[in-house]
Amino acid sequence: MERGTQPAPSGELLEFATAAAIGLTDTPRWLPSQYLYDAQGSALFEEITRQPEYYPTRTEAAILRAAAAEIRTLTGPVTLIELGSGSSEKTSLLLSAFGDAPGEVRYVPVDVSDAAIAAARQRVAADHPDVEFAGLVGRYEEAFPLFREHSPAMVLFLGSTIGNFNHAESLRFWRSMSRHLAAGDHFLLGVDLVKEREVLEAAYNDAAGVTARFTRNLFVRMNRELAAGIDVTQIEHTARYHEAWQRIEIFARFRTAQRIALGPLGLTVDVDAGELIMTEISRKFVLEHLKAYLDVFGFDVRHAFTDDRKWFAVLLLRHRGGR
Ligand code: AVJ
Repeated sequence: MERGTQPAPSGELLEFATAAAIGLTDTPRWLPSQYLYDAQGSALFEEITRQPEYYPTRTEAAILRAAAAEIRTLTGPVTLIELGSGSSEKTSLLLSAFGDAPGEVRYVPVDVSDAAIAAARQRVAADHPDVEFAGLVGRYEEAFPLFREHSPAMVLFLGSTIGNFNHAESLRFWRSMSRHLAAGDHFLLGVDLVKEREVLEAAYNDAAGVTARFTRNLFVRMNRELAAGIDVTQIEHTARYHEAWQRIEIFARFRTAQRIALGPLGLTVDVDAGELIMTEISRKFVLEHLKAYLDVFGFDVRHAFTDDRKWFAVLLLRHRGGR
């Protein structure tokens, strides 16, 4: 790694460059997965969800469609707080169920992208005019302290996004969730379940190569925002299931040796031919283990909704409070 001289960069780019520098100098190398979701990355992820091999999104949507009314019966009237709303197609199913029941419905999507919040506002105004909309632009953690004001509430964390968190991130997440939710508040958690390797690996190696473009886009973004100077044509996507750790691991493999510049920091990192950089993990869960883990944080499972093949689950959790 070498340091040159550069003008002072802006806050966000400095944060991106620093996060990239930390991961790229670590062993093995990695990059923080939240940076996969710029405008192009978010569009590519939407495209992934439409690939025949990528079962999680449509499986979860079917579970929610069947369960929405029962969820509303179990929770009663609550404010719906959604973490990382993305395209709120699935949320719409819930908003319908909550909107059909008596009482006012408030919907609070939380997303780092103000464009995502603006789009959600328009969609909700058009499809659910009776729902009160109170979007929050910011990172999840910035929204946590506001949860109390919305109690009784149900936090929605769908799509198995929780699977992107490593052990430390998951621990931090559930601790603060536990701290900020009141006793009796609900949490609706979507999780992808452990299943045969073939099914899992196919979902992350779609034949059309959309997931490969999604992985490569992170480096395209680094070129654009950090002037990284990476030859992205020499980057291969690889995704494999690590059975003992119950997780899909996604890497970018560099076919050729390259020097990655981190413009805002004036640093360069040399990557050898054949090296792997981890861009994402996607953990898969076993329901009984997950229930025991959530119990430690003060969450009871009121109901576990799943599909016929037991490929995906939507858990309705209730916080016992007191932690
Ligand atoms: C949005 C994190 C749930 O892990 O399945 C899909 C992201 N990456 N294909 C997942 C993803 C590549 C996705 N999550």
